[in-house]
Amino acid sequence: MLRCGPGALSRGDVALMRQGRRLVAHVVVSTAPWETASLVGDVDPPGGVTLGRVVAVRRGAWVLPLPRPFRPAMWMTQQALSAAWARPESRVVFRRVRDFFFSGWSRPLRRRLVGPLDVRLLRTDDLDALLVFAGERLVVSPGFLRRQLRERWGLAEPERRGAAAGAFDAQGRMQGFAWVDSYRQEALPLDGFWVRSLVVAPGVRRMGVATRLLGCLMAEAARQGEPCVYADIDDDNTASLRTFGGLGFRPASAELTRRTNQAWDAAGRTKALVVLERGLPP
Ligand SMILES: CC(C)(COP(=O)(O)OP(=O)(O)OC[C@H]1O[C@@H](n2cnc3c(N)ncnc32)[C@H](O)[C@@H]1OP(=O)(O)O)[C@@H](O)C(=O)NCCC(=O)NCCS
Repeated sequence: MLRCGPGALSRGDVALMRQGRRLVAHVVVSTAPWETASLVGDVDPPGGVTLGRVVAVRRGAWVLPLPRPFRPAMWMTQQALSAAWARPESRVVFRRVRDFFFSGWSRPLRRRLVGPLDVRLLRTDDLDALLVFAGERLVVSPGFLRRQLRERWGLAEPERRGAAAGAFDAQGRMQGFAWVDSYRQEALPLDGFWVRSLVVAPGVRRMGVATRLLGCLMAEAARQGEPCVYADIDDDNTASLRTFGGLGFRPASAELTRRTNQAWDAAGRTKALVVLERGLPP
């Protein structure tokens, strides 16, 4: 990322922006008025802070440079994809294709390719693997993860507070991640332990990884004396809702759902959240 303000960016550049608590890389679709959008999404609501220009995208060993002469192509791609994405039938086709590739029929093949995955609580020496995974798949700041792992999640019992779990392949690469901790750590006025940042790499989805990660975190939350854990999920995230539902998570009270949505609205988020809770054994 090249640090700069909006004045140094043009149509078709990819801007790194802070929107509420999230970091996003969005295409500049207009500079006057200033408008940005995700590659397949609507124009962002006003109010984000521009941090700089994305000059390359890294996925594992692959690095895709984003040189400035590609700006017109990037802008046209964004316009075409967002127009296609706006049509409900395109989304249905996309979901069907994605679900076809990552569903039951390909599971044995994917299991063979990936091998067994070790799902466990993270320790402080997992920081490097976590930062690589986070750089590719999470919109959480590396500084926050580093601090939480060093000062809370990665400590040995009985100092550990909150917890993070990872799924590791035989090469030690992280393929799935989630943490559970107090929302107060992120300055949100909500009590109790919340499951956060649950993400499984696409190649190992529908193999029970999220279920194992959550099982691991729930056991640790129970060990730390929490009576229950909560989760807030976009109301259109069927995969996540089903995953949590399969583990016995049930809708939280209307009052908690309202307060959670209110807290996130104040932090700049626009999507409606479903709030779930799951009691833990004493
Ligand atoms: C949601 C997510 C974490 C699920 O991870 P996963 O490892 O594939 O989940 P599991 O294999 O444990 O799935 C458990 C059950 O949930 C349901 N489920 C999971 N993904 C599903 C999908 N895409 N469509 C329908 N049901 C799904 C199924 O009932 C599944 O059991 P089955 O495969 O035996 O039928 C994963 O899809 C993901 O990383 N998504 C992107 C990030 C995200 O949305 N995170 C959640 C934020 S709250």
